[in-house]
Amino acid sequence: MPKPLLQLMDLILSQKKTHVSSFNVAAKTLGREFFKENVEGKDFDSSSGKDVLSILANEVLAQIASLTLAGHETTASTLTWSLFELCNHPEQQNRISAEILQVRSRHGSTGKLTSEDYDSMPFMNAVIKETLRFHRIAPALLRVLACDNVIPLSDPVTTSTGVKVTEIPVEKGQLVEIGIGYYNRNPTVWGSDADVWNPDRFLGELDKQTPVGVYTNFLTFSIMIFKNIYPNTTTRRWSPLLYWLAFFAVMELQVILFELIESFKFALPKAGINIKRRMLGL
Ligand code: HEM
Repeated sequence: MPKPLLQLMDLILSQKKTHVSSFNVAAKTLGREFFKENVEGKDFDSSSGKDVLSILANEVLAQIASLTLAGHETTASTLTWSLFELCNHPEQQNRISAEILQVRSRHGSTGKLTSEDYDSMPFMNAVIKETLRFHRIAPALLRVLACDNVIPLSDPVTTSTGVKVTEIPVEKGQLVEIGIGYYNRNPTVWGSDADVWNPDRFLGELDKQTPVGVYTNFLTFSIMIFKNIYPNTTTRRWSPLLYWLAFFAVMELQVILFELIESFKFALPKAGINIKRRMLGL
């Protein structure tokens, strides 16, 4: 599509844009309340001043908005899909319950647990990984190319005219969209059951491979080695921040899933419910 047309389309208000802008307003309101509660004697009106404090407040409010969206909806949706899968696979839910009993037998029912305890539960962690793989939250990674380059293909493609393509030339300024779901369910990476939710795949050798992702071998949390392969291709590159965010998200998932499965048994109101994924904030 021609660039001017794309720029024009960008100006048109869509339902999604309205949704994002009302989200921003709500997140900033929440951020202001957070300020009032946590910064003694400060009632920031970040919109007015240009002093250091107001600039700082604006920055923090923007961060609160990103963290509410990036850090809340992502883990909440992943947790929802984990529970949905566990409802469809009650035997797998029982395997997590058995691991919880083992951990509790070491610490008692009210003992304080550490991250080592959560990491010592291979099956619960396999469920988290498989859900992150199978139900990726963000659909794609977007990169604007900083210079002309070529993307090598691991599997050559033969075009309709019979030409074998082994690499794709790309131009500076071009937007490249990397399909997370495509990679996460690619049979050449995951085997013929790539389209099946099967946590056991993460109990074997596969779990020791991390060739692509920030966490385990999937793209759900973005790419770790992109920078090393194509040093100049991206305007946004992997940062250590993403690494820590991924592990923070996994810790959240471990703790909440543990508590929920320990306290409740999850089941669907009736069998065979098919849930259609729709894009919300992300
Ligand atoms: C299941 C949980 C999560 C998933 C699947 C997820 C996924 C992602 C993805 C795909 C990106 C884009 C990275 C890129 O463009 O290369 C991203 C960025 C980001 N995420 Fe998450 N995320 C999760 C949890 C969290 C949490 C818990 C936080 C914060 C507490 C968070 C904060 C962020 C931030 C700040 C960025 C932007 C980083 C940057 O541009 O350098 N995310 N996340």
